[in-house]
Amino acid sequence: MARKKIALIGSGMIGGTLAHIAAREELGDVVLFDIAEGLPQGKGLDIAESTPVYNSSVDLKGANDYEGIAGADVCIVTAGVPRKPGMSRDDLLGINLKVMKAVGEGIKTHAPNAFVICITNPLDAMVWALQQFSGLPHNKVVGMAGVLDSSRFAYFLSEKTGVSVADIHAWTLGGHGDTMVPMVRHSTVGGLPLPQLVAQGWMTQEELDGIVDRTRKGGGEIVALLKTGSAYYAPAESAISMAKSYLKDQKRVVPAAAYCKGQFGVDGIYVGVPALIGADGVEKIVEFDLNDDEKGMFQNSVDAVNGLIDACKGIDGSLK
Ligand code: APR
Repeated sequence: MARKKIALIGSGMIGGTLAHIAAREELGDVVLFDIAEGLPQGKGLDIAESTPVYNSSVDLKGANDYEGIAGADVCIVTAGVPRKPGMSRDDLLGINLKVMKAVGEGIKTHAPNAFVICITNPLDAMVWALQQFSGLPHNKVVGMAGVLDSSRFAYFLSEKTGVSVADIHAWTLGGHGDTMVPMVRHSTVGGLPLPQLVAQGWMTQEELDGIVDRTRKGGGEIVALLKTGSAYYAPAESAISMAKSYLKDQKRVVPAAAYCKGQFGVDGIYVGVPALIGADGVEKIVEFDLNDDEKGMFQNSVDAVNGLIDACKGIDGSLK
């Protein structure tokens, strides 16, 4: 069987980390793509030169031309610019929307059979636009945010309880950002739902509320520490777990920005929901039962995503 091909569109901090993990895990040949000349070639060569050390038989190449991604099985998209001081959310939206257009057209022409994972922010709107620009089926285009947010949630719960991360299942749904919905009732530590942990004295309600709040602000916490950039190790690991579920048909159920057709009362947009990822891409959306409070938070999140989508439609009239 020929090796799989993984195209990383955007070779910045997350893109480079994705390439390193993909090479170490021998997931397939890797193409790093970027508009910056030399950057994808340099990172590709550096990582390629490390493969003999751990005996990984994969090729790594850099490209500034979309022909380089031809025939990719998976495309992971981090191309774009981060928000800079003085830049409004709308400014960022306009710039990254143009990037998604170029990326979508590149994928449509050169990798129309790929499974596409978008990471570029603002995530829920960018993945929605990328699907339209690429013309790929909805089940083959997803956004990565929920795995990262849930991993942060799980880590904070592990730190507090002393229970291994392996025995924690944490879920965040909804949009990526301030309105994300940490699913307290559906998250478990050693099989116990979080409200029961509080009832049994593992932590106080205030401590749990603090963990939920820290999860919501997890991205900002890293930015404040790094000062010159945003998180890249955890986002890259998160996207790789989704790519692996597709490439190996693992059928894992993970929180992902998936296209909803009525699930959770959402129709025609992308938002974070539990998605089963296998060889057909997003094969199923698993619907949790939500109580009134959770429904309210989820709707708030959906409203925020719809606001971003309306702004995108205002900027680019071709989007529907
Ligand atoms: N086509 C391809 N690459 C592009 C384009 C484009 N049109 N525009 C910008 N890029 C490249 C940049 O040259 C840069 O190398 O995208 C890369 C982005 O890398 P970083 O700035 O290092 O950003 P990173 O930390 O990797 O995050 C990427 O993921 O989490 C989100 O908010 C984050 O949107 C950001 C994205």
